[in-house]
Amino acid sequence: MGTARVVFDKWEGRYAQRMDDVRSSAVRDLFGAASRPDVISLSGGMPEVSRVPTHTVADVAHWAVAHKGAVALQYGSSEGRRELRDVIVELMAETGVRLKADEVVVTAGAQQALDLIAKIFLDPGDVVIAEGPTYLGALQAFSAYQPDVRCIPMDDDGMRMDLLEAELERLGPRGAKFIYTIPNFQNPAGVTLSAERRRRLLELSREYDIPVVEDDPYGRLRFEGGHIKPLRALDPEVIYLGTFSKVFAPGLRLGWITAPKPVLAKFILAKQAADLCGSAFAQVTAERYFAATRWRRVLQSLTKTYGERRDAMLSALEEHFPPEARWTHPEGGFFVWVELPSFLDTGAMLAEAVECGVTYVPGDSFYPDGRGRNCMRLAFCYAEPERIEEGIRRLAEALDDRLHLYRAFIAAGAIPAEEGAA
Ligand SMILES: Cc1ncc(COP(=O)(O)O)c(C=O)c1O
Repeated sequence: MGTARVVFDKWEGRYAQRMDDVRSSAVRDLFGAASRPDVISLSGGMPEVSRVPTHTVADVAHWAVAHKGAVALQYGSSEGRRELRDVIVELMAETGVRLKADEVVVTAGAQQALDLIAKIFLDPGDVVIAEGPTYLGALQAFSAYQPDVRCIPMDDDGMRMDLLEAELERLGPRGAKFIYTIPNFQNPAGVTLSAERRRRLLELSREYDIPVVEDDPYGRLRFEGGHIKPLRALDPEVIYLGTFSKVFAPGLRLGWITAPKPVLAKFILAKQAADLCGSAFAQVTAERYFAATRWRRVLQSLTKTYGERRDAMLSALEEHFPPEARWTHPEGGFFVWVELPSFLDTGAMLAEAVECGVTYVPGDSFYPDGRGRNCMRLAFCYAEPERIEEGIRRLAEALDDRLHLYRAFIAAGAIPAEEGAA
């Protein structure tokens, strides 16, 4: 649970200062509670890997060793295997991004790319611009490099460009090291950056000479609406991070980065220092999976499943959640973001929710500065629709207890109604 035990640490005073701000991820902390069978997990963004046929994966893994054992069990190049980079080039072409294999480096998931991007760009105090709220794993990865992360609020069309422009005007040209965005079905907010705002973001990036880092794990998981081209399709200067975690399986720990050549050269140096090279075994396995299986069918069925679970969550919220709550309507991905009256503290409420048999991630985990306390992230990707319904019902019950008090205060005139409104 979120309440970490305070343990006497005799090593205190020896750690590097850069670890001062690195916090444990709330999702990882919830792992224990979320895996109890009586608890419905609406916290972790875990793909439904049970839909990926294990016999197929066993076949491709067997093939990797039987036919490519000499390379699969050996060290490989830091850039990653050419064959897998060819697969990535094809996958990216389908989204509207034209690349050559030498513009791609394979990573240990998008998470490693986030860490190494921060490592090559950030000195303590450097400004990074991100959406508010933003991916907590990015905040965690960046925090070791001690940046000043400025969060730009979003609405239903993603990051607000008027607020971004105002921030950039305050900072001036090159006033931030990069702008970090998750344009599709954002984690945690679930919203998508509109095509018009993508163009505006790139204009601002050029005007202020601040590169964009586009993190796109969910782009292929759309169950409603039309595809919007990635920022990288509109501007080759964009640094783009992709991953196999959501289109295949996170257990392989495979992702990729594409970036302008000089950035990629620095990135490869950082990757060499971090791990010499990625797992050749995982790469050969993935190559075979994409070359010799019906992976598109699996992905289609996965996306359909996520769509059904999103529907289950939205209708349960509609039915059970209090009128004071607002939530987003994602067209893909894994998450719904809920905003509650401002006096509610979802971190303080979590223990009670776990007692009621449901977990979520408190909103302040997705900000670097304590904002978001009245919000929560709900993941619809993992639980079956009936469990989602039941989870939302339990959560609504826990909320209702707290809201009684709030409504009584409003009725007595002790707080103005709009103060607590979401
Ligand atoms: C926005 C975002 N970026 C990066 C990652 C990390 O993914 P990977 O498994 O590729 O490391 C995640 C994982 O959930 C994510 O949501």
